[in-house]
Amino acid sequence: MGLTYRNIDLATAPDAIEALAQLRITVFREWPYLYDGDLEYERSYLRPYAKSRACIIVGAYDGDRLVGAATGTPLEDHADDLVEAAAKLSIPASDIFYCAESVLLADYRGQGAGHKFFDEREDHARRIGRDWSLFCAVERDSNHPLKPDNHRDLGSFWTRRGYQPVKDVFTTLNWKDVDEAAKSDKRLQVWLKRL
Ligand SMILES: CC(C)(COP(=O)(O)OP(=O)(O)OC[C@H]1O[C@@H](n2cnc3c(N)ncnc32)[C@H](O)[C@@H]1OP(=O)(O)O)[C@@H](O)C(=O)NCCC(=O)NCCS
Repeated sequence: MGLTYRNIDLATAPDAIEALAQLRITVFREWPYLYDGDLEYERSYLRPYAKSRACIIVGAYDGDRLVGAATGTPLEDHADDLVEAAAKLSIPASDIFYCAESVLLADYRGQGAGHKFFDEREDHARRIGRDWSLFCAVERDSNHPLKPDNHRDLGSFWTRRGYQPVKDVFTTLNWKDVDEAAKSDKRLQVWLKRL
């Protein structure tokens, strides 16, 4: 079960979109995201990554099987809601790299993939001249009925990586939870690190 890592270029390997979309749906179905995934939305979400050289997708593989991935993009290339959140930071969006997500199948956790995903994206961000790295993490009620007893919070990991939650800076995304009848807004905390 040793992992290997390769960057994924969707311009030359468009079929990888399907594996990435499935991976996101599988991992984000779990706590704390609880996302009732939509394959068509996932395909359209990932398509811009095929167009920009400034984006990065790091794949984690067990042999040839994609079991994890992390994505990153210049902040200004991402959704407008994030640019609005960034405007509250007094840092130009063009100085910020957005680490969009890290997903790894549960059986493969604890082998250093989380660190590798940040290392690769932060190095890439520096190479393209970014001074800051930013990501967002969903906020959940600690008494939520779907919270598993064995959940481990990633906050201390992120802090050790040099990230801090930025006071009063949030963004909102809209999706349907696995236990919801319809989509609802979710608040996400913005975390920031100087590279
Ligand atoms: C985020 C994610 C990719 C990290 O993968 P990972 O395999 O846990 O990463 P690592 O092995 O590098 O471990 C990262 C940290 O998690 C903690 N950790 C890892 N395995 C652990 C375990 N079995 N028990 C407790 N803590 C553990 C450690 O604190 C570690 O940090 P440290 O090495 O500084 O001590 C993975 O947890 C995941 O897919 N989570 C679900 C999706 C998610 O929440 N993504 C983040 C927001 S998009």
